[in-house]
Amino acid sequence: MREPLPDGGLVRKLWIGEAELYREHLLRLDTDSRRSRFGGAVSEDFIRNYVDLSVGLDAVVHGFFVEGLMRGAAELRPLGTDHSGEAELAFSIEKPWQSHGVGSLLLERTLLAARNRGIKSLHMACLADNRRMQQLARKFDAELSFDFGSVVGAVESPRPTPLSVMREIVADSHGFATAMLDVQQRMFKTT
Ligand SMILES: CC(C)(COP(=O)(O)OP(=O)(O)OC[C@H]1O[C@@H](n2cnc3c(N)ncnc32)[C@H](O)[C@@H]1OP(=O)(O)O)[C@@H](O)C(=O)NCCC(=O)NCCS
Repeated sequence: MREPLPDGGLVRKLWIGEAELYREHLLRLDTDSRRSRFGGAVSEDFIRNYVDLSVGLDAVVHGFFVEGLMRGAAELRPLGTDHSGEAELAFSIEKPWQSHGVGSLLLERTLLAARNRGIKSLHMACLADNRRMQQLARKFDAELSFDFGSVVGAVESPRPTPLSVMREIVADSHGFATAMLDVQQRMFKTT
């Protein structure tokens, strides 16, 4: 059975209008995690512009939230034309929440979203020294195949089924309710 997420956190999709939460999360990454996330050193300005571009490009972002703050993210971004069936995948988890199973849950949710969008091939830029990411990919080796230096995933059974679509809808409706609670809590804190 899956262990509970640390600190009462929850995983849900990032909704329209929440890009700032994603930006703040990426800006909080420590130097090593930022380098691993982007495949090299990048500036704060780069990150600010990156989020606008990414959210505008139909990315599906699943976030790990603790008390309304985004502490981890998995970004699935379609590549090429509308129906190329290819997407890029990237993960970022803030240091105190690494190695607590958050990446595993985010990858599970993202693979379901990829499947429901007919994505057959996933690309992930992964530095050769990123043992944890390679280990994480290995956990899903039934659904992903990978190479050192870069992970190229083939989504097994890429066809959506009524059940896989329903699983995503159920996860989203739960995520939407908790997102509303987060908003309410933030409003109460500021009044
Ligand atoms: C890489 C990353 C996404 C992994 O997520 P995570 O939440 O830390 O990983 P999990 O806790 O789900 O662990 C996944 C597997 O990695 C392995 N692992 C965990 N901690 C590890 C460590 N310190 N060293 C090596 N392997 C480790 C475990 O085998 C684990 O599998 P298990 O649960 O069966 O034991 C996360 O650490 C991260 O965001 N790092 C910075 C950015 C980055 O590297 N992004 C990836 C490139 S896009």
